[in-house]
Amino acid sequence: MTKALEGVRILDMTHVQSGPTCTQLLAWFGADVIKVERPGVGDATRGQLRDIPDVDSLYFTMLNHNKRSITLNTKDDKGKEIFVKLIEKCDVMVENFAPGALDRMGFSWERIQEINPRMIYASIKGFGPGDYEDCKVYENVAQCAGGSASTTGEAGGIPMVTGAQIGDSGTGLHLALGIVTALYHREQSGKGQRVECAMQDGVLNLCRVKLRDQQRLAHGPLREYVHFSRGMDFGEATPRAGNDSGGGQPGRILKCKGWENDPDAYTYFITQAAVWKNVCDVIGKPEWKENADYATPEARLPHLDKVFEAIEAWTMTKTKFEVMELCNPLNIPVGPILSMKEIAEDPALRKTGTVVEIDHPERGSYLSVGNPIKLSDSPSDVERSPLLGEHTDEILKDVVGLSDEEIKAAKEEGAV
Ligand code: COA
Repeated sequence: MTKALEGVRILDMTHVQSGPTCTQLLAWFGADVIKVERPGVGDATRGQLRDIPDVDSLYFTMLNHNKRSITLNTKDDKGKEIFVKLIEKCDVMVENFAPGALDRMGFSWERIQEINPRMIYASIKGFGPGDYEDCKVYENVAQCAGGSASTTGEAGGIPMVTGAQIGDSGTGLHLALGIVTALYHREQSGKGQRVECAMQDGVLNLCRVKLRDQQRLAHGPLREYVHFSRGMDFGEATPRAGNDSGGGQPGRILKCKGWENDPDAYTYFITQAAVWKNVCDVIGKPEWKENADYATPEARLPHLDKVFEAIEAWTMTKTKFEVMELCNPLNIPVGPILSMKEIAEDPALRKTGTVVEIDHPERGSYLSVGNPIKLSDSPSDVERSPLLGEHTDEILKDVVGLSDEEIKAAKEEGAV
């Protein structure tokens, strides 16, 4: 079995999280990802949030699997010469520097096209063209600007950011799709193209249902929102709605047995209309099946607090896993709130390679998230992240084509 992206070479100028997420995915699919890092410094995340002194952080190791690392000063003359050769030899260049950084280095899109017309040049920035295009942006800024924060949090409470890194990792995912699309297009056109993804746009794309609700608001209250059943004001914009489901089937997070001591003893419970009768039976409210206030989805909307109170009285007598076992055969959609500890220890996730244990020469063994996308004919094993400059010599020799003497000279000059 061959890897799906075998033969594709990526010039990886990414750092922190958004860009590295993208190139890690491409590396998992078999692309040769050459991560370019500043000599002696490297990706700043190598040293951020360290749990073990002087060892690459988990932040770095978990975002840079299956890559090779070369140190190269792309502001130095000799470094620039080497960089030009790398551009000639690569299919894709990916970067997420602050706006204008590559132009300042002398590598504008026009210049890159001149060097290699087949090059696909992919960038992540915080914002697209407009008032904020020059801003440096991190995860939570993107969550705030992309509509996520204003629609996340308790009804009537302050805006909240989510734990899922939708601004960084989410935009990295979007960019990876843009790159493989451009690679596919290059098969016909023979030409590279520019792929750009702004974090604000990526977050907004993931908040699509909230823009849907913004427009629905003009035609009346959002009847499935907690505001409707509690008589709260909706205001002018899609409000925060706690744990209300984003779909048409009302759902909430409910306590399960042990919630007093276990912060994750909760389940998500969806009152799917099609299985409402099963819900009534399982929670011991068979009379609701015929009661005019509860029998239909429309009738239930003003009474959702009462509905979920009754369901919670039942879920509190069961563990979150018992709720799952009892509801699944009845087609009632429920989801136990799994802690990171439970996920880390989950045998099924280990078996599929979604949670993997990796050996690292300096830190020993650590857990990581493997490739969540499974291809039937293209394996994607997870390999440890590279040490800073671990592959400098081999890349200079095999990809750039330098002799041992030239490599020595480049090192003496501080270019690598
Ligand atoms: N050789 C020489 N110089 C290098 C280099 C190399 N190999 N790699 C990077 N540099 C330089 C850059 O050219 C830049 O120099 P300049 O400011 O003189 O142009 C400098 O290092 C710093 O790069 P920058 O991107 O500005 O880093 P930062 O730490 O100040 O900002 C971000 C970090 C993430 C805020 C910023 O890169 C950004 O906004 N990126 C786009 C959005 C994004 O991806 N954000 C999320 C990150 S998870």
